[in-house]
Amino acid sequence: MKDRIDQLLTEIEAIKSISLEEVEQLRLKYLSKKGLIPALFDDFKNLPATEKREVGQLLNELKNNAQKKIDELKSHFELRDEVSAARLDLTRPAGNVEPGTRHPLSIIRNRIIDIFGRIGYTVADGPEIEDDWHNFSALNFTADHPARDMQDTFFIATNPEIVLRTHTSSVQIRVMESVPPPIRMIFPGRVFRNEAISARAHCMFHQVEGLYIDKNVSFADLKQTLMYFAKEMFGEQTKIRLRPSYFPFTEPSGEMDVSCNICGGAGCNICKYSGWVEILGCGMVDPAALDNCGIDSKTYTGFAFGMGIERITMLKYQIKDLRLFFENDVRFLKQFTGAF
Ligand code: PHE
Repeated sequence: MKDRIDQLLTEIEAIKSISLEEVEQLRLKYLSKKGLIPALFDDFKNLPATEKREVGQLLNELKNNAQKKIDELKSHFELRDEVSAARLDLTRPAGNVEPGTRHPLSIIRNRIIDIFGRIGYTVADGPEIEDDWHNFSALNFTADHPARDMQDTFFIATNPEIVLRTHTSSVQIRVMESVPPPIRMIFPGRVFRNEAISARAHCMFHQVEGLYIDKNVSFADLKQTLMYFAKEMFGEQTKIRLRPSYFPFTEPSGEMDVSCNICGGAGCNICKYSGWVEILGCGMVDPAALDNCGIDSKTYTGFAFGMGIERITMLKYQIKDLRLFFENDVRFLKQFTGAF
């Protein structure tokens, strides 16, 4: 009897895919009341008690295997029936898969990281929710400093010591507090200001901050670095212009314009017919800011700069409305296919 069970087990095991009618015949042959397996169960009753345990187990295994096999064969047909009931044609070629596109702000941010990476700048990050120290005080904004009004700040209602960072200069402080000079880094990130949303302003935008601290760093180094950046970003023909400005954490401070890459300097509505567009603020790190972070301002000097990614992206791609960046309209986003 054991041999017979073994024989049926291998027989059933070997069955390959067959038609639906044949599956039914198989079921009748092996599992129906008059089938081979119930017949074995009849024989089983006459076995001596000593053999019953072992053979009983084998017999159950056979029955389960047969049932499993038949279910399996049947399920193929059921799947096929479902597919045809849903009128799915699995042989039809798939439609076009549209590749995703990078957001234009990401493209330009990556370009900026790449341009500075080539002259040794590494990238660091800091929190978007900042404390007053890192966003203002350590950067030399005194409590009643009018410069705090320069940036319309979002304060946390329950704790005015906590703000949404208004600029990436906060990361300068975090880095200077924790990294001994020389420091050559850029900090890309999102910043927040309480501004009415328009074609030219938003309450959330992106900056990249640059910081270089070492012995004997001069304003000439700053100017050369910014000129290199402007030419890499906007083309070899680009000119730069530095105008005096004011930031509490740099002295002297400047703002940099680039020659308008749209009209080539001749004058257009993007540069408001001046031939120049402002792209960043910069300056030599104020000794007070260095000292606030435990860097000896008698030994070290440095420069910092901060630029808006939206502004640069608008210039690069001639985008006239800042709001487009955050609306996620695919008709806008799709235009950047292929760029990285
Ligand atoms: N944090 C300044 C701003 O947001 C820009 C800046 C950065 C200026 C670094 C000087 C040095 O306007």
